[in-house]
Formats: sequence, structure tokens, C-alpha cells
Amino acid sequence: MSPVPTVKLRPARDDDRDLVLAWRNHRVVRQASFTTHVIAPDEHAAWWARVAADDARHVLIACADDTPVGVVILDEAGGGADWSFYLDVDGLEARRALLPTWIATEIATLDHAFGPAGYAELRGEALAKNSAVVKLHERFGFTVTGEYQREVDGETETVLRYALTAAAYREEDPA
Ligand SMILES: CC(C)(COP(=O)(O)OP(=O)(O)OC[C@H]1O[C@@H](n2cnc3c(N)ncnc32)[C@H](O)[C@@H]1OP(=O)(O)O)[C@@H](O)C(=O)NCCC(=O)NCCS
Repeated sequence: MSPVPTVKLRPARDDDRDLVLAWRNHRVVRQASFTTHVIAPDEHAAWWARVAADDARHVLIACADDTPVGVVILDEAGGGADWSFYLDVDGLEARRALLPTWIATEIATLDHAFGPAGYAELRGEALAKNSAVVKLHERFGFTVTGEYQREVDGETETVLRYALTAAAYREEDPA
């Protein structure tokens, strides 16, 4: 495994749009998502414009050195934010850097959320069958706060909710 890189987050620009679509349409990311169809360019462009016009939503590009490696989406509500993310699976697998970059992106997101963004809580959801995500989150102090069932392409799937508060994060990681 490559060493854990330093990942920094920056606001997405319009010229990141096609890159993010390619990442979202990767088979592995679609299988981890709540809709698994291949997203068409016009559907993605409409989503991109909707998110850009929404002050509560922030699309951030994770970069290792200057290379874009993934996207972090924060949807602010109630003093905290709902967090989703996906990575450039093909590019990172080719460089044997998927897991370390995933860890680095998680660290960068927590630093941002509980640093400059000042959130009281970070929340997320993942399919229960995607247990690797939940296990990794637990290593960073997230706890599972609940679960529910939802239809994903006609199949009933269990979704786990997880959360980490700023107070719990600071206790685990006194800076
Ligand atoms: C994987 C993950 C990002 C998928 O999220 P998602 O299925 O897109 O769900 P979201 O809540 O973000 O999206 C909500 C809606 O926006 C749509 N949407 C999301 N991204 C979009 C895009 N790039 N273009 C168009 N529509 C998009 C979804 O289709 C969905 O539409 P709907 O509300 O009409 O059903 C999210 O479940 C997650 O962060 N999981 C944990 C981390 C993980 O497993 N990451 C992947 C491994 S690399």
C-alpha cells in the first residue's frame, strides 16, 4: 500500500464537472449509491447547477498534491452537515493508492468540518452491505446512530446512519 498522502479540499469549479461525473459513474461507486443507473451528462449538469445554487450545499474536490482524487459533498442542516463522498476509483487503483487516499480524504473532511466549517456534527449514510465504509468511519470515531430500509433499484436495502460530534472528535483527537 502507498503511504497515506496529504489531501486538501478546495471548492469545485465548473471545469471539475466532467471528472466528477466519471467518478460517480464508476461501477463501484454506483453499487455503493442509492441510485445505481449510469448518470447521463444532462442529468449531472442539472444536479451540478442545483447544488451550485444552494447555499447549504458545498461540493469540494479532494486533491493529493495537485491531482484531483475525489469529491466531498456537504449538505448543511441543524448546525451540522450530511456528508457524502466518492473517489477516483480507477485512477487510484492504478496507482495502488485507493485505501490511503480514502483515509486521507476522511482526515481532510474531519479537519474541515470541525475546523473552518465549524460544524457541531457530521452525519452520513451508507448501505449496510458496504461494511468497509462503516468500519473505516468507526476508526475515526463515528458511531452508528440508526438504520432504515429503502428501495434501491427494486431491492430492499438496509441503510446505516452514522454520526460524529465535534465534541467527540476533539476528545479523540486533541489538537
Ligand atoms: C456513495 C454516495 C456518495 C452515494 O450517494 P447518492 O446515491 O448519490 O445519494 P445522494 O443522497 O448523495 O444523492 C441524492 C440525489 O442526487 C442524485 N445525484 C447525486 N449525485 C449526482 C450526480 N453526480 N449527478 C446527478 N444526480 C446526482 C442522486 O441520484 C439522488 O437523486 P434522487 O434524490 O432523485 O434519488 C453516498 O451514499 C456515500 O457517501 N456513501 C458513503 C461513502 C461511499 O461509499 N463512497 C463510495 C466509495 S468510493
